[in-house]
Amino acid sequence: MTSKRSRPLVIAANRLPVTRADDGCWSASPGGLVRALLPTVRETGGCWVGWTGERNGESDVIHDEGIDLHPVPLSDRDVDLYYEGFSNDTLWPLYHDAIRESGYHQEEWEAYVEVNRRFALRIADIAPPDAAVWLHDYHLQLVPSMLREQREDVRIGWFNHIPFPPLELFQRIPWRSEIIRGLLGADVLGFQRRLGARNFAASAARLVGATEIGDDLVFHDGRNVIVGTFPISIDVAEFELLASGRAARQRTAQIRSRLGDPEVILLGVDRLDYTKGIGQRLRAFGQLLDSGRLDPERHVMVQVATPTREGVEQYQDERREIEQLVGEINGRHSRLGFPVVHYLYRSLPLDELIPLYRAGDVMLVTPFRDGMNLVAKEYVAAHVDHDGVLVLSEFTGAADEMDEALLVNPHDEQSLRDTIVRAVEMHRHERRPRMEALRARLGQRTVNDWANSFLDVLIGT
Ligand code: ADP
Ligand code: F6P
Repeated sequence: MTSKRSRPLVIAANRLPVTRADDGCWSASPGGLVRALLPTVRETGGCWVGWTGERNGESDVIHDEGIDLHPVPLSDRDVDLYYEGFSNDTLWPLYHDAIRESGYHQEEWEAYVEVNRRFALRIADIAPPDAAVWLHDYHLQLVPSMLREQREDVRIGWFNHIPFPPLELFQRIPWRSEIIRGLLGADVLGFQRRLGARNFAASAARLVGATEIGDDLVFHDGRNVIVGTFPISIDVAEFELLASGRAARQRTAQIRSRLGDPEVILLGVDRLDYTKGIGQRLRAFGQLLDSGRLDPERHVMVQVATPTREGVEQYQDERREIEQLVGEINGRHSRLGFPVVHYLYRSLPLDELIPLYRAGDVMLVTPFRDGMNLVAKEYVAAHVDHDGVLVLSEFTGAADEMDEALLVNPHDEQSLRDTIVRAVEMHRHERRPRMEALRARLGQRTVNDWANSFLDVLIGT
């Protein structure tokens, strides 16, 4: 991809693409960021700076399938204050519509500053001359200006995988101006949606006096910063290939049979995050069974939830609530040997996930707020049979591009229930053209297009 580009590429994100558990075992890191970026780095031969996911880890370079990984070690305190604290207890809820109360703690902010500085120094140390440094996500918002102080030769881009909030919410952060100044050290700032880009520009104007020049440029401190919109996507060809194979077809049939060959399989696949609306959708499913609009002998739900941020209290509460709901619904509606909700609290490998997508007749993607939501796109890519119905929250970035899904407001419980029933009952004559339109649009914009469009702006061709 960037063989024709003039600058070597350095990726930096909070996480490396592989994570090391406390028992020393390595596995793929969770979440959409890693799945989206890996193909880019593999193709460009770039390197990646980030955290291994373990406490007090090593900083020695790791060579992983042709990519050099440069770990930034985090101590117990860093994990508690920078990762679980400021990143995931302050920024994460605030950037998702303040869906939960954020904590604002001086020592967590100081740890965030300190870890951002460590990332900047590590990048400054390993980046080849004139490199393009592509930073990712809300964990690293101070790195652009810190890195600029160290290395004037590099081009600096930052992409936010999650929403960027409106000024009214953003200005709650006691250190709001520092964050804006941190970001303005970049050459290019990228957002999933136009709204996020506009929100950033408005905060930059108001909080540090940056000047908005046109729609996608701000001027501050003698420099122009490009503020653009780059909706992320998936490796469509990889999903289609894996979904078309004999192994996937056989596994799909096996899954259906294991579930008791129900008429309709409803599916949810998410990190177990309170932004994803998993409880709301389970409640809706349970109520539809209670009222007899769905039938436990014909309609079965599978919910796969990846463990995530288990040290953060709000995630522990969310897990408890979900598991209680699953227990209650199964207690009321299951038959011996036939649970009506199948719940897995684990991450699945792709060769298991893709057949599951294929087996899912109705995919429920119902976050209260989501930067993009790659699961929605993966489900569509996996449906090489051109069948299946996607129920999609209006509050995802994906909704901007997926009109033919059944769009729903997950806060509206009645509408959520009605939409689920509509999806379950939708005739094949309506399902097929909707899925075909979704697939056609998805095929026009893959993760390579996303990465290229950002890098074209950052580096040029
Ligand atoms: P987020 O980045 O917030 O987790 P996305 O939907 O954008 O949300 O991306 C989630 C990614 O994680 C997708 O690539 C999806 O395949 C993967 N994923 C989510 N849940 C699971 C699971 N239980 N097992 C395996 N992969 C999962
Ligand atoms: O953008 C969402 C995100 O924060 C990404 O960094 C990653 O895709 C996912 O959530 C996983 O979260 P964590 O790294 O906290 O496990």
